[in-house]
Amino acid sequence: MNFMTRRKPLVPGGHHASGLKKSLGWPHLMALGVGAIIGTGIYTLTGVAAGLAGPAVVLSFAIAGAVCACAALCYAEMASLTPQAGSAYTYSYVAVGEALAWVIGWSLILEYTLVCSAVSVGWSGYASGLIRQAGWGVPDTLLAGGVIDVPAIFIALAVTGVLLAGTRESATLNFILVIVKMVALAAFVALALPSFDLAHFQPFAPFGYGATDIDGKKFGVMGAAAIIFFAFYGFDAISTAAEEAKNPKRDLTIGIVGSMVICTLVYVGVAAAALGAVPFTLFAPSPEPLAYVLKSLNHPAAAALIGMAAVIAMPTVIMVFMFGQSRVFFAMARDGLLPRRLSSVNKRGVPVTVTVLTGLVAAVISGLMPLDEIASLANAGTLAAFIATATAVMVLRRRSPELERPFVTPLVWLVGPATILGCAYLFTSLQLRTIEFFVVWNVIGFVLYAIAGTLREKAA
Ligand code: ALA
Repeated sequence: MNFMTRRKPLVPGGHHASGLKKSLGWPHLMALGVGAIIGTGIYTLTGVAAGLAGPAVVLSFAIAGAVCACAALCYAEMASLTPQAGSAYTYSYVAVGEALAWVIGWSLILEYTLVCSAVSVGWSGYASGLIRQAGWGVPDTLLAGGVIDVPAIFIALAVTGVLLAGTRESATLNFILVIVKMVALAAFVALALPSFDLAHFQPFAPFGYGATDIDGKKFGVMGAAAIIFFAFYGFDAISTAAEEAKNPKRDLTIGIVGSMVICTLVYVGVAAAALGAVPFTLFAPSPEPLAYVLKSLNHPAAAALIGMAAVIAMPTVIMVFMFGQSRVFFAMARDGLLPRRLSSVNKRGVPVTVTVLTGLVAAVISGLMPLDEIASLANAGTLAAFIATATAVMVLRRRSPELERPFVTPLVWLVGPATILGCAYLFTSLQLRTIEFFVVWNVIGFVLYAIAGTLREKAA
């Protein structure tokens, strides 16, 4: 079984080897990050998380943001070190070995598909709100929170269709959508703040500061942090652009740390404004919590506008993750760990099979499963990937200190262990069902891998 410990050779040279134009400065990188990060997390999960932690959810945001900032710095070093596709999967393969790479790749497949589902459900919350406000008479059972979430299925399939048509992310469109999202959130804070009442922050942490299991859900500040962690990821988008940064050392640091700081501040601001305006028990169960807050403050037009902003801007987040999925499939199939035809592309360069598969599975899940469970499971896969990336950075610093690193993680012996411990703690704060499912998913994956690998070895 020595295939499990073999490592992939590092293709060094980072930005020198790719031949890509170095055209991105830190404002572009920051826009790229913020565009991929802001989505269902802040627009919808704020309600779910507030229901788990009460007003202390602002601390959950700060904790999850700090852990993600550390992880983001590790991603940046790995991305600048190796230009190969595949993100944490490839980093594990290069630094540790094939078996870990498989586990991480298998976890990323779960993560990317579920993020597409979760963002589709979040999108549907706001789309359903607009449909209800428009009075079209669509039965509640077919909208967000009903029996089958039809708008969620629709958007997952629609984005799949757009990708199949060969559409690529566009920097200009991304920039416009980032502005739409930010203006909507700023307007929310501006409209909610005048009704701020400090009394809504009492009691501050009704469910405590840890993660307490109540009826299968984890309540408390850490329980909420484990869910709201969802709101912060998507920054691989910046680290994979390392090759195109004009001045990677400076611009990547500013881009990554900057987009994390901006998102954390915006998130804490939005959460505090919502909590101060309306008791959390009222908006927490809503599938469109920010619009709900504005409606209860008697701003129906603004509520509709924030709904529209969410509906217009959120599909790009689904797009980013569907792309990410095809890159991971591509890297795993190229390494012979998945059937090659899964990653084959058509004449226009679209990986049809993996896109259709991801789209269909994401659509079915988004139509049937509740948002908190989907997001929680997506987080499990992401936390595993973050831990692997932080490990890879430290292993390579020890083993190959001579490699040229266009971006160097600052204080790596502090930031690396902080990422691993922070992610491990968040992982244990996830719902028990999530942890069980994640373990079962990986046991199944590992058995498949061991069988396939042994057969391959015999055949060779
Ligand atoms: N961070 C992304 C979101 O909140 C996944 O939608």
